[in-house]
Amino acid sequence: MAEIIAGAAMSHVPAVGAAMDNAKTAEPYWAPYFAKVEGLRQWMATADPDVCIVIYNDHASAFSLELIPTFALGVAAEFPPADEGFGPRRVPTVPGHPQLAWHLAESLILDEFDMTIVNEMPVDHGCTVPLSLAFGQPEDWPCRVIPICVNVIQYPAPTGHRCFQLGRAIKRAVESFPGNERVVVFGTGGMSHQLQGERAGLTNPPFDLAFMDTLVRDPEAQAQVPHTTYLREAGSEGIELVMWLAMRGALSDQVNEAYRAHHVPTSNTSNGILVLECT
Ligand code: DHB
Ligand code: FE
Repeated sequence: MAEIIAGAAMSHVPAVGAAMDNAKTAEPYWAPYFAKVEGLRQWMATADPDVCIVIYNDHASAFSLELIPTFALGVAAEFPPADEGFGPRRVPTVPGHPQLAWHLAESLILDEFDMTIVNEMPVDHGCTVPLSLAFGQPEDWPCRVIPICVNVIQYPAPTGHRCFQLGRAIKRAVESFPGNERVVVFGTGGMSHQLQGERAGLTNPPFDLAFMDTLVRDPEAQAQVPHTTYLREAGSEGIELVMWLAMRGALSDQVNEAYRAHHVPTSNTSNGILVLECT
């Protein structure tokens, strides 16, 4: 049976992608952050997963206000990088895994998660920046990718608890797939940041570090935290952290924390990286 070997969570700041694409990672602003990305890259190179399930949010790139799926599952053979206004990022097309993705669709929907099935989907920085962080700048991505989008753009977003339960259902789905794929589940976004309104520029590193601690040790408790807490403490875009809960739900109850980093700021964001191995 296929197996989830680990989870990886990371912020998905678009300026981080631009720094890589434009060879600016050695500049004084970026170098200290990219030094902290090395631990993630080394772990990934050693783990060498067959598939990454990337749980992220679309930022009105694939979906507009005309159609807002709460949970969308990409089942295509490939996903092109989205044009977010500056032309698509010059990163490889993201290869899908239709067989496992359709198995996820069947398992999740019969498990009472009403996923939207997506046959065509450009993937924006929410998906491609984490891939660049994990794998650097290869000619082709070294594994297949199943993108899962969570709506956190338009109120109401799903609760942290619902996202955690989705992770649990993803675990059941992967473990019932008759293959030998080794899977890493990504949760992307956050940490604290607010891009708009009176509190634009807000970050809250103490909240973010406490979030990581509780997510690792007592994820059920973190899953009970309501949206209002994220909004108050982590800013309007800090709600992206619910996708870290989806990642955590897909892992074993006890995990080995293989890598953690935190850096503030990157663009507007208090930036976190976490790698958790299943035990
Ligand atoms: C930034 C962070 C995000 O998560 C995002 O989607 C867009 C911008 C930022 O920090 O600039
Ligand atoms: Fe974002």
